[in-house]
Amino acid sequence: MLTLTFMLALVSVAASIDMLNVCMDSKHHKVAPGPEGNLYQQCSPWKDNACCTADTSEHTHNDNSYLYNFNWSHCRVMTDACKKHFIQDTCFYECSPHLGPWIQTVVNPTWRRERFVDVPLCQEDCVTWWNDCKDDFTCKENWHKGWNWTSGHNECPAKAECRKFKEVFPTAQSMCEKIWSKSYKYTTYTKTSGKCIQMWFPQGQNPNRKVAEYYLNKAPSPGIPASLFSFSVVLLMLLI
Ligand SMILES: *[C@@H]1O[C@H](CO)[C@@H](O)[C@H](O)[C@H]1NC(C)=O
Ligand SMILES: *[C@@H]1O[C@H](CO)[C@@H](O)[C@H](O)[C@H]1NC(C)=O
Repeated sequence: MLTLTFMLALVSVAASIDMLNVCMDSKHHKVAPGPEGNLYQQCSPWKDNACCTADTSEHTHNDNSYLYNFNWSHCRVMTDACKKHFIQDTCFYECSPHLGPWIQTVVNPTWRRERFVDVPLCQEDCVTWWNDCKDDFTCKENWHKGWNWTSGHNECPAKAECRKFKEVFPTAQSMCEKIWSKSYKYTTYTKTSGKCIQMWFPQGQNPNRKVAEYYLNKAPSPGIPASLFSFSVVLLMLLI
């Protein structure tokens, strides 16, 4: 019995380590996180441990980059102040190794098998993003779907008129939650709380592993007990 408990403890430790340091199964992500010494500009905070390659990190900075052929300036040229948040958002998406608790399987996968959902973003990161973009223009609330892709990049669909961000998204919350169909969840937690995920942080000081750990311990994802359960069944059978 002691052996079983011990082995279960080991399995449990291994399972939680995975959840805290893992890359999504998506279009450009590495198979597993690791150091990337040459990450480019705004992606450089992840150099110590990243799910993105140097090549991906460079392309996140290009307009209409080959990564997704996505045109941020689909209405008017996006201001640099606004664009820096979308670059950071892309770096965060491609490079983050500590989003395990929020990774979900995509139900009808077209271009990726996994995504993240309801990542609790720190209030500062969401509010500064919205403030810097509120006078820029867009024609859509959900940037994940509904575009006209016939030209090879996203164009506004016929009936969607270009309006200011602050008209499409009246609040910072509506922008952060709707623009990537609930990838982010708005919170009133600040960066010092330890309870929210940061998109912006100094190089080599990724605070998000601790935050992921906090949420894992608070409300374990359904995946862990299930896998633990099957592990324990297998172990029991081996031991008997
Ligand atoms: C982005 O979209 C705008 C508006 O349709 C267009 O004028 C611009 O050329 C596009 N940018 C690229 C790089 O295709
Ligand atoms: C999609 O965009 C193309 C031009 O790139 C245009 O000819 C076509 O009418 C558009 N389709 C719709 C449904 O808006």
